[in-house]
Amino acid sequence: MTSAERPANHGESSHGLRGDYGRMRPDYTVDQDHAAYEADEHDRWRRLYRRQIELVPGRACAEYEASLATLDYAAGIPRFEVVNRQLDAATGWRLVAVPGLVPDLVFFEHLAGRRFPVTRWIREEHEFDYIVEPDVFHDFFGHVPMLFDPVFADYMEAYGKGGLKAAGLGSLKWLARLYWYTVEFGLIRSSAGLRVYGAGILSSPSEIDHAVRGPRSRRVAFDLVRVMRSLYRIDAFQETYFVIESFDQLFEATRPDFAPLYRELAALPELPANAALPEDRLVA
Ligand code: PHE
Ligand code: CO
Repeated sequence: MTSAERPANHGESSHGLRGDYGRMRPDYTVDQDHAAYEADEHDRWRRLYRRQIELVPGRACAEYEASLATLDYAAGIPRFEVVNRQLDAATGWRLVAVPGLVPDLVFFEHLAGRRFPVTRWIREEHEFDYIVEPDVFHDFFGHVPMLFDPVFADYMEAYGKGGLKAAGLGSLKWLARLYWYTVEFGLIRSSAGLRVYGAGILSSPSEIDHAVRGPRSRRVAFDLVRVMRSLYRIDAFQETYFVIESFDQLFEATRPDFAPLYRELAALPELPANAALPEDRLVA
């Protein structure tokens, strides 16, 4: 397996995970406690940041690049409160520090309230290229710039509300795939070519080129039902990426009530991660 960052999906229990879950509030938030980060942790951040920022031009979508240009994370692990002043002014979103992965319902409640949970710890040195769980670098570098885009910011809130609803309908597996293939591993087509908006790709040193032009991956035009039927790999690069035309398209496609869709999906077989369907529209 090629080394890549593997941010775990949110749809996992917090049992047995890293992070200090002992002193959190009932909504799983903690103080970021910025003063507690060690010098070597800031140094690791700077090295992760320098490596990754090189990969952004010509690969990340314009919305991501535009936000990143107004943010300066190069000096060390950012202070969430400082970013929050900018983010609140831009889209009314706010970062909250969490010990690590949080239960689904907690996660959805935060998103529905325009709060993005950010893991407070940073990976260890031996995980520099590869980490299984999301850490502060993935959460921050991958997700935060996109929260500055007004349409994407609204999509994330709608996703949180949709998550609360899906949980009540026993339909989380379908909704989790939508998150995976958009928020974490989404591609968007621009006049300049294919670009990345998925956080799992943007925070990975090696998946970007595989995703955008790799010969061993397929890029398929976004189709909501196709996405929700598709299993995904968490232990290797994705084999299939779904490409949207715009964030408006994504927002509109996901606006309808999903309850009837979940009933349809229950009758359809799941598709393996490497499935190639005759009706797939490939995007070059
Ligand atoms: N329209 C979805 C529903 O009814 C809500 C949603 C919006 C889910 C955007 C995901 C993303 O459940
Ligand atoms: Co993530």
